[in-house]
Amino acid sequence: MTFHTTLAQPVTAETASETVGHPPAETILRVDGLRIADLVSGSTLVDGVDFELRRGETLGIVGESGSGKSISLRAVLGLLPTGLTITGGTIELFGEDTSGHRASDWNRLRGSGITAVFQDPGSYLNPSLPIGRQIVEVLRVKRGLGRRAAGNRALELLGEVRIREPEWVSRQYPHELSGGMLQRVALAIAISLEPRILIADEATTALDVTVQAEVLDLIADLVERHDLSLIVVSHDLAVVSQVADQVIVFRDGVVVDRGPTSHVLHRPTHDYTRLLVDEHERYGIGRYTEDVAHV
Ligand SMILES: Nc1ncnc2c1ncn2[C@@H]1O[C@H](COP(=O)(O)OP(=O)(O)O)[C@@H](O)[C@H]1O
Ligand SMILES: [Mg+2]
Repeated sequence: MTFHTTLAQPVTAETASETVGHPPAETILRVDGLRIADLVSGSTLVDGVDFELRRGETLGIVGESGSGKSISLRAVLGLLPTGLTITGGTIELFGEDTSGHRASDWNRLRGSGITAVFQDPGSYLNPSLPIGRQIVEVLRVKRGLGRRAAGNRALELLGEVRIREPEWVSRQYPHELSGGMLQRVALAIAISLEPRILIADEATTALDVTVQAEVLDLIADLVERHDLSLIVVSHDLAVVSQVADQVIVFRDGVVVDRGPTSHVLHRPTHDYTRLLVDEHERYGIGRYTEDVAHV
């Protein structure tokens, strides 16, 4: 069936990881001392970054533009841009060291293990195919579903991302849809292979504030219903603080602050984090808390 975890979950070792006396949830991603360099210029872009993601947890990554958030996550997805290379550290996904991984190993992990949505969903979609057909293709090629089953599942997925009239929308081409709708479609494709980790890298950045709140709310809902672990990346502390349990703060390719979200927000240890928090207190960190208090 579609919804695996719609009912309230029993308190397990995973869900009660913060409760005293329970073992912590399983670590499904561990990044240790990651270094990334640009081979062309010889510069080090990410310099010894550590973080981990536990099952069922949402990790927020915040930091100014150019601080290395996206390339660190591209490394985690096995999708570093040409010219950039990992020069140190390890990335362990689901207990597997990925350092020797070839394209075929990454293809196995991506989609059903780890997946991502980005700022510009339009650029990942085929402009000349209706979006329903694109979802069907993914389901047929990657899940081996037959035409009819894939068609039905595609419509269900569009419903899951709260698209009304999915049959009508499935016949639309990408250019006929708004940014918010395209991001919903990207999310439908992302969850279609039932991944365990979802990365949302600036996924709401280009959207209007109201749509941004709707999409964030949708992501939080998908995380719960599909038992996903989430990494939410933004230059905007307000976005990250809405959904994350733990936050890490990037600056110039290093992690300068980390901890549970409320600690980082209320007791930032690094000057740069204090600056981010001050800025958002001034420009309205409350703009999401009021609208989507239930997230
Ligand atoms: N394809 C690329 N080629 C060369 N340098 C890149 C490439 N992508 C990103 N960089 C550089 O890596 C650094 C970190 O970029 P990025 O991870 O995109 O930052 P963020 O996501 O935090 O805004 C920047 O200095 C950027 O210029
Ligand atoms: Mg980025």
